[in-house]
Amino acid sequence: MTALRIAVANQKGGTGKTTLSVNLAAGFHRRGPTVLLDADPQGSAGHWVRVGGEENDLPPVQGLDAGGVRAGILQAGKLNRYVLVDCPPHLKSDVLRQVMGAVDWVLIPIQPSPLDLWASVDMTQAVQGARVGNPQLRAYMVLNQLDERNALSRSMHQALAEFEVPALANGLARRAAFRSAALEGGSVYRMGGRGAHAVRDVEAIINEVLSK
Ligand SMILES: Nc1ncnc2c1ncn2[C@@H]1O[C@H](COP(=O)(O)OP(=O)(O)O)[C@@H](O)[C@H]1O
Ligand SMILES: [Mg+2]
Repeated sequence: MTALRIAVANQKGGTGKTTLSVNLAAGFHRRGPTVLLDADPQGSAGHWVRVGGEENDLPPVQGLDAGGVRAGILQAGKLNRYVLVDCPPHLKSDVLRQVMGAVDWVLIPIQPSPLDLWASVDMTQAVQGARVGNPQLRAYMVLNQLDERNALSRSMHQALAEFEVPALANGLARRAAFRSAALEGGSVYRMGGRGAHAVRDVEAIINEVLSK
């Protein structure tokens, strides 16, 4: 079995790494054996699954300790079809670098404001650095907390064009369902009609990744 290994990373906090990685993991879990590796010492993804208890629809979440990042990801890839990695919000530790050395994809959630994009510029260098040892690494930004009613501003398009990492065509809108899912300890897939639009966002990202 060759696994698809996807890290969700941004050195900036609060951009939606955990929200995106947990919901992507739930979507992939419906397609095949999946594990979510939590490389963030804050352990939000693990907390998220524990809130849901046995009723949650999430794949197993396993901690990934700084000492065994590469080995942990490769081992998870032997046992699963899909491996998601939720990353810590800093570039200081070596963890992010090690993760990017051992995955096929890195998805970088950013909020659709030029300020947030500029704050994520260090990620470009981190991606380029990781490609020295992992030349196949595919990197895309994923716009998060899009306002459904407003098209992206012209300044955002310009800022995106200057950024060396391309953006996926699909992103996540800002939706109460993403917050409710965390409160309830499951994914948006478990929310029925309340989560339908959010599921559509997540599915579009998964299908885009699988088709590239
Ligand atoms: N698409 C979204 N719609 C609504 N709220 C969101 C969305 N994405 C993230 N959030 C909220 O934003 C906050 C930060 O998201 P989180 O996933 O914890 O970011 P990170 O892991 O990058 O720190 C959380 O309160 C989360 O519920
Ligand atoms: Mg997080």
